[in-house]
Amino acid sequence: MMSKKSYELLKRLTEADAPSGREGAAAEIVRAEAERLGYEVTSDALGSVIAHKPGSGAKLMFDAHLDEIGVIASYADDNGFIRFGAVGGLNTSELPKKRVRFLNGVTGVIGSEEESFKDKPKLSKLYIDIGAKDKADAADKVKTGDMAVFDGPFDSDGCRVVSKALDDRAGCFILLCAMERIKSSENDLWFVFSAQEEVGLRGAKTAAFSIMPDYAVAVDVTDTGDTPGCPPMAVKLGDGAAIKIMDRSVVCDTEVIERLIGTAEKNGIKYQREIMADGGTDTGAIALTGAGVKAGAVSLPVRYVHSPSELASVVDIEACAELIAAVCAEKWDR
Ligand code: CO
Ligand code: ZN
Repeated sequence: MMSKKSYELLKRLTEADAPSGREGAAAEIVRAEAERLGYEVTSDALGSVIAHKPGSGAKLMFDAHLDEIGVIASYADDNGFIRFGAVGGLNTSELPKKRVRFLNGVTGVIGSEEESFKDKPKLSKLYIDIGAKDKADAADKVKTGDMAVFDGPFDSDGCRVVSKALDDRAGCFILLCAMERIKSSENDLWFVFSAQEEVGLRGAKTAAFSIMPDYAVAVDVTDTGDTPGCPPMAVKLGDGAAIKIMDRSVVCDTEVIERLIGTAEKNGIKYQREIMADGGTDTGAIALTGAGVKAGAVSLPVRYVHSPSELASVVDIEACAELIAAVCAEKWDR
């Protein structure tokens, strides 16, 4: 079970509307929390928030991305419907009839020109209905370049959580929980809340370049293989922190994998091994920074990723936070 205070923070984090490149609302919450916990906090040009706890030992970087997927208005058509592009990896066949909310507060429903599609619909066949009278009315309410996110309220029964942005506000939450638990550490600790992951692992790359850590661990969501008819996969909801071995962006560093597994076993933290067949993570971008960084990842199992109703287990969130706090407390060699 989550404490009331943690529950409120996770709720606030996920309710922030912050698509890629427009992370301000989420960044503000994270910055305030990190400062409250006594970390040195800075931001970089891309909008990543970087929290530092100095230490004389190895430089460890932890990363979770601030941004969520969204849509961006291209133009209002002659009938007042907003045509749009994708901000991050949208599955177009799941979009029709979903609600979205622009950052200026205007809400809309995604419609499609066809009743049903044999293949994935092209984005050009979809539109956002904001209830505008005509083109001028629509253009008045939503401008070219305005971004919107899914409207997916936070819901929790104390055991599982559902929200539009567990990817990756849950990761940000996990880092903040770990940051609160770290009493002392010889390591030089850097916590990066990175911008623009969903559009190409961008913020983590520039942040890693400025830090140049000895080791890095990204915290992001992963799919699960435990729902009826889903593609088979080893990860199960409720089976604990998923320690990444590989995804499309990275083959994780052996030393980091062994460290994560060893720490989990030593501390009795529930964990599972993860290979994600689809999609990449900041881990890949960090690993390829400078002359290369030894990088791994801790993943939170999430069902229905990139939808308004991403679903995770509180047990897993707790395990991830415990694991990150535990690896921070251990002495890493430079
Ligand atoms: Co994502
Ligand atoms: Zn993510």
